[in-house]
Amino acid sequence: MTLEQRILFPQRNPARPDSWQNGPRTLLYQAGCAICHDAEHRAEMVPDLHTLKHPATADYWTQWITASKPASMMPAFTKSHDGPLNEQQIASLADYLEMSKGS
Ligand code: HEC
Repeated sequence: MTLEQRILFPQRNPARPDSWQNGPRTLLYQAGCAICHDAEHRAEMVPDLHTLKHPATADYWTQWITASKPASMMPAFTKSHDGPLNEQQIASLADYLEMSKGS
């Protein structure tokens, strides 16, 4: 099974149905986002997504993942910006970030 397939067909962790932590959705986050956002020695400008100081919605996550921001060091991830993720993958990530807020 390729990484992309595991991302495309996410499953909840059967042992803990409310948790994505060990599930394939986390894998996408780990592969694509954690390298910067959860890096232990990351630059000060890279925010911790689990403890943002302002409210974030699914639309907010989607916007950032899809297009980032002009002149930002964060890459845009959608295929229309030459990124690797399709809409379904971005939606699944936004969903994951919503669920893991504040943790
Ligand atoms: C190459 C490093 C890098 C990667 C990979 C990366 N980001 Fe970022 N991200 C950044 C940086 C740097 C900023 C701050 C950008 C700015 O403010 O100009 C940022 C900002 C953000 C913000 C805005 C946070 C706020 O302050 O409100 C969100 C949301 C975000 N990233 C989500 C993601 C997601 C989801 C992924 C995985 C798909 C991801 N990022 C992958 C570097 C990265």
